[in-house]
Amino acid sequence: MARKFFIGGNWKCNGTLEEVKKIVSMLNEAEIPSENVVEVVVSPPFVFLPLVESLLRPDFQVAAQNCWVRKGGAFTGEISAEMLVNLGIPFVILGHSERRSLLNESNEFVGDKVAYALSVGLKVIACIGETLQQRESGSTMAVVAAQTKAIADKVSNWTHVVLAYEPVWAIGTGKVATPDQAQEVHLELRKWLHDSVGAEVAATTRIIYGGSVNGANCRELAAQPDIDGFLVGGASLKPEFADIIRSLTVMKSQL
Ligand code: PGA
Repeated sequence: MARKFFIGGNWKCNGTLEEVKKIVSMLNEAEIPSENVVEVVVSPPFVFLPLVESLLRPDFQVAAQNCWVRKGGAFTGEISAEMLVNLGIPFVILGHSERRSLLNESNEFVGDKVAYALSVGLKVIACIGETLQQRESGSTMAVVAAQTKAIADKVSNWTHVVLAYEPVWAIGTGKVATPDQAQEVHLELRKWLHDSVGAEVAATTRIIYGGSVNGANCRELAAQPDIDGFLVGGASLKPEFADIIRSLTVMKSQL
C-alpha cells in the first residue's frame, strides 16, 4: 500500500509580513510535481495563517504550529482547534520538541491535544524524538515508543495522523541523522505501530523525518524505505525547500 510523500515546512516563530509574502511568492512560482505524488503543507505562525492560506497556491496546504488541548473558552493567549477549523486550516503540528522542552508539554498532554484536534476534524502532524542524552544512553526507542503510546492511548483512527520523527539533537543544529540512523528508528516505529496499534495503521501511516533536512541531504534520506517525507524547519524558509520537494518525489516515483 503506497504512502503518499509528505513535505512539511515548519516556519516556527519567524517572518515579517514582507518576508512571508516573499516566501509565498517563491513557493507559488516553484515547479513541483503533482499533488497526487507529494503532499506539501507549510506552517506559518498563527498571525499569518489566513494571509498565507489566501495567497498560497491551491495544491499546497497550511498547518498551524499548535492549538489548545480542549474546546476554547477562558484560556488567554491560546488558539482553539475549532478556530482553525473555522478558518479552513486543515492541519496542525502538535508535540514539537521545542514545545515539549521549552513549554513542558508532557507526553500525555500531547496525546490529549492530538486526540482533541482529530475529534474536531483537523489533520495532525504529531512530533516525537529523543534528546542527545537519551540517544547516548541507548533509550531512543523507549523514548519514542512512550511518546507514540501516549498518542495511541487516546487515538483510535490514525487516518489523519502523520508521525514526525525528529531527533532533538538534529533540530536546528546542522547535525542531520544519517540515513541509516533515521531508517532504523522509522522501521522500529513502524514495528511498534504494527504490534501495538495494528497492521493496517503500520502500513499506511506516514512517518516523516525532521532535523536539519536540506537540499543537499534530502535525497539520500528520501531513498530509505520507511522515510515517507520530511518536516523541514530552517530550509523551508529558503528556495531550497522546492528542491527538497522535488528531489524526494524523483527518488520515490522511480520505485
Ligand atoms: P530544522 O527544524 O529543519 O531547522 O532542523 C526541523 C523542525 O524543527 O521541524
